[in-house]
Formats: sequence, C-alpha cells, structure tokens
Amino acid sequence: MTKMLDLWDIQGNVVRPYGRFGFPVARYLLLNVRHGRLARQWLADLVPRITTSATWGDGPGGVPKPMATLNMAINHAGLAALDVPQATLNSFPQEFTMGMRKRRDIIGDDGPSSPAHWDPVWRDSEGDKAVHILLTLNAQTPKAMQQQYDTIVQTVTDSQGAVALLDGHVGQDGQLMPYQEGHLLWEEGKPTAKEHFGYTDGIGDPYFEGIADPRYRVEGRGKQMEDGTWQPLATGEFLLGHIDEAREYPPAPEPVLFSRNGTYMVYRKLHQNVASFDALLQREGAHYPGGPELLAAKFVGRWRDNGAPLVSAPDAKSKAAWDATFAQASPEQQDAMLSDFVYDQDMSGARCPMSAHIRRLNPRASLEIKAGTCPGQFARDIGAFDTPGALANRRRILRRGLAYGNSSDRSSDKGNHGVIMMMLNADIARQYEFIQQQWVNYGNDFREGNDKEVLLGNHNPFDPTCVVHAADPQGDAPPRFVRNIPRLVETRGGDYFFVPSLTALRLVARGLIDPT
Ligand code: HEM
Repeated sequence: MTKMLDLWDIQGNVVRPYGRFGFPVARYLLLNVRHGRLARQWLADLVPRITTSATWGDGPGGVPKPMATLNMAINHAGLAALDVPQATLNSFPQEFTMGMRKRRDIIGDDGPSSPAHWDPVWRDSEGDKAVHILLTLNAQTPKAMQQQYDTIVQTVTDSQGAVALLDGHVGQDGQLMPYQEGHLLWEEGKPTAKEHFGYTDGIGDPYFEGIADPRYRVEGRGKQMEDGTWQPLATGEFLLGHIDEAREYPPAPEPVLFSRNGTYMVYRKLHQNVASFDALLQREGAHYPGGPELLAAKFVGRWRDNGAPLVSAPDAKSKAAWDATFAQASPEQQDAMLSDFVYDQDMSGARCPMSAHIRRLNPRASLEIKAGTCPGQFARDIGAFDTPGALANRRRILRRGLAYGNSSDRSSDKGNHGVIMMMLNADIARQYEFIQQQWVNYGNDFREGNDKEVLLGNHNPFDPTCVVHAADPQGDAPPRFVRNIPRLVETRGGDYFFVPSLTALRLVARGLIDPT
C-alpha cells in the first residue's frame, strides 16, 4: 500500500529543492530571539505564511504555486530562547545540542575552514548576536523576492524587538549584509544547474516513501533491490516519527507530537577556491590521458557539461555516443540516463574513481564487497544484507540550497562565491557527520587509506597522503595519482537546525509542549 504523508504538516523544502521548481533566487535570514513570550507571538503570526509540502496545481488537494516561499528552522539555543521545556531540550541528540561549531573536529573544519574564518554573523554568535532562527526565502522572480523579504522584515520590525535580524553575512564585494543571497547561475541569459567549478549539479536527490511528485520516482534515486529494481527509501531516513531503513523510528525529541514530521538541517556556507581548482585541472590535466576535461569528470564522477555519469560514459568516445542518445531521449529517459546506474561493473574504480565526489557521497551498492576471484577486483557479496546498498541507504541526505556570489574573476581564490548547502536528514550523526568524517575526509571504506574526497576534503598542502586515484579510461592501465591537491572548498559558517513540522511550530508558538 502506498504510504500517505500529511504534506500539509511538513515544511515545503523537505519535499522540494525549490531551484528545480522554478525558484531561481533565495535569501537566507538569521534571527536572534530576545524575548521568549513575545517572540512566540511573532512566531504564531508567521506560521500561516510558511510553505508546506502540499501539492501545487489543480489536482485533488492541490494549492496554487506561490510566487515566493518561506521556511523556518531553529537551532538548539533558539528552541531554548523560545521557552521550549527543558525536558524536551534534553531529549535532542548530542550533536544537535552541541551545534556545528563545537563539532568542527569531527567534520574537519580546520585551517581555513575553522570558525575564525567564518562570516561575522556566524563568528560573533554570542548573546544578542547568537543565531537562533533560520528563515529561508525562495522566489520565482527578483521582484517577488523583494516583496517577500520586505514582508518578513516588517514582521520582525512589528515584533518590537522580540526578534532581531542579524547582520554580518559577507556579500559580493566584502560588505556585510543582513541576509545571505543564493541564486541559480546564469549562462547565455538562462538559469542553469551549474555551480562555480562548472559542473552540472542537482541531479542526485533521494526519493522516499510518501513523496507524491512523480518527477522523483526515477530509478537510481531510491534504493537498489536484489533483483536490480529500485524502491523508495524509508521515510524515516528523512522525517522523524516514521520508520527508517532499519525498520525503527529514528531517535527523536519528545513528545512525539513535537518531533513527528520534523527533520534536521545542516546549513553550510561553502566557499569555492575557483582559481586553485582551475590551476589544478591545468597542471594535472596537461599530462593526463583524456586531458583536463576527463580529469574534471574523474573528480566528481560526472562530466561537467551535462552530468553524464562516468560509469556509463568513461571516455570521450563513449561520451559522444551517450550525448547522441541523450539528445534524442524523452525527459523521463534523460532522467534515467543521469540517475539509473550502479558501480557493479566498476568495482576497481577504473571508470569512476573511488575518490570521486558522487561515489564517496553515495557509494550505492559498491561498499558491500569481499575479495573476489579476479586479481585486483572485488565482487559484491550478494546476500549479506537485505538490499545490496544497505550500508549506503543509511547515509543518504536530501540536498537543498543554491550557489551564491559571482566567480567571473577566476584569477584569485578571494571573493565571495560558493554554495549554500542545506542538507536534510533524520539523524545528523549517522547521516551527514558520518559522510563528512568517514567518506569525505577519510578513505578507508573505499580501500583508499587516508585519501580524501577531491572537492570537499580538508586537504593539507603538507600532508603527503593527499592523493586521488584517477585511473586511465581503458581500465587496464595502472592508476594515476593526483598529488598536492589544494583545499578547494572552505567553510564560511553554518549550524545544525531543527526543521519543525507545522504542528510543532504551533505548539512552540502557543507554549503547549508537554514532554511528560
Ligand atoms: C562546494 C561544495 C560542493 C560542490 C561544488 C558539489 C558539487 C556536486 C556535483 C557537481 C554533484 C553531481 C551532480 C548530482 O549528482 O547532483 C554533486 C552530487 C552530490 N553531492 Fe555535492 N557538492 C558540494 C558539496 C557537497 C556536500 C557538503 C555534500 C554532503 C556532505 C554533498 C553531497 C552530494 C551528494 C549526496 C551528491 C549526489 C550523489 C549521488 O546520489 O550520486 N555535496 N555534488
């Protein structure tokens, strides 16, 4: 039986990455709560404006598509400032209670990513400057964005100091802004799915039980079954109060009415060192068979221009054939070509390296390996788990957010450009933190020793183990090593937030949470 979710109770950004739904611009606002009771009144007035996951359109239960959306997330200090009872606060997991800054050693925010280098709004986060609430605004047009922003700022003004908008997001020219902007990158007058290193992004996004939108029901975005078919992931991987892949309820704060249909958001402002990235590609690509463009594809596991997966198109010749088929394919077939693949035929990493971004961040079924019969290769130990990708299925995340800033000057790493990553998961320690610690900054699960994932790894120029396999496309040549990878992505701020259901927001607003 198909699982039905109460979409009216779930915030809209859980189900929709707005950028792909016609909302190319965003603003992210941080607020400080200065008077609990009055702030709860402000919250009560704001709740009806929050965008839910309800279906857009004329169908049954459909609502009109808004010109602009509003969503809210609250960190642990924010819940305390809003007078959430201590027993409920105590029932949150440790990583959420501690917050991102105190977990920096676990997630590798060291050197240029350490909090000393974060935007002032995150760096000076104490007392009246403490971050409590995150409001995310997305809009179909810049005009609709300005209107939505003005409306929300007016509610803050009307709160008479109960909540305050925090200044201190670094803007394009280094000036401090009262919000963080985000936007799709444009090429030839059109919005694209590109990010600042030039890759096509926003392809892989898990689908889970209860999502009504058929656009997500693409093979490859759920979990792979023994017979090779795909099923949606369990809802509890992404929403509290629902059964997860272990057939258990994920740990959740009490009472159930407060946590059900909520989730956690990992917000990270990630600066991209575009000059270092370009220089690395040129330096290493000059003597790499296939040149810089194939090397760029090896870093991520997808070709930059259209996202073609390396496992399906491992060299220029097969890429040309893939492109020709893609051009003739229907949108559904194109989706399947982009997402419906596994690493079974590439267990050695000759096509898609073990250190490639998408293989590290979602290894699919390729971790369940045992020493195979072919020298240098591994065979999957089918039958060890109930689904081939059972290990990876517990580490999936929903990616939300957009690029920010402008990187047209690529002569220097300086400037203000990168990605605002908003990752949603039901268990920050098991999902996001595990990925960041074990798969991004450590390579042992992939038999890669200390090698880090190329784009995100907290590479250290003095660390001789910063190498990545980038095998030749033929697959039978010895692997190559790209040495001395510079730090390509640096953290500029962030925190762990709770994304409450609409029910939970009303309970907080009315002071009605009863944890007993
Ligand atoms: C500046 C930072 C980042 C850049 C430039 C970047 C870029 C990309 C690109 C180009 C793709 C391939 C397109 C796609 O499959 O959607 C991708 C996929 C992905 N990224 Fe990132 N990413 C960044 C940060 C992160 C972070 C911090 C995480 C999580 C810790 C992450 C998790 C993922 C996941 C899960 C996928 C999909 C993998 C799959 O399902 O096959 N990314 N990213």
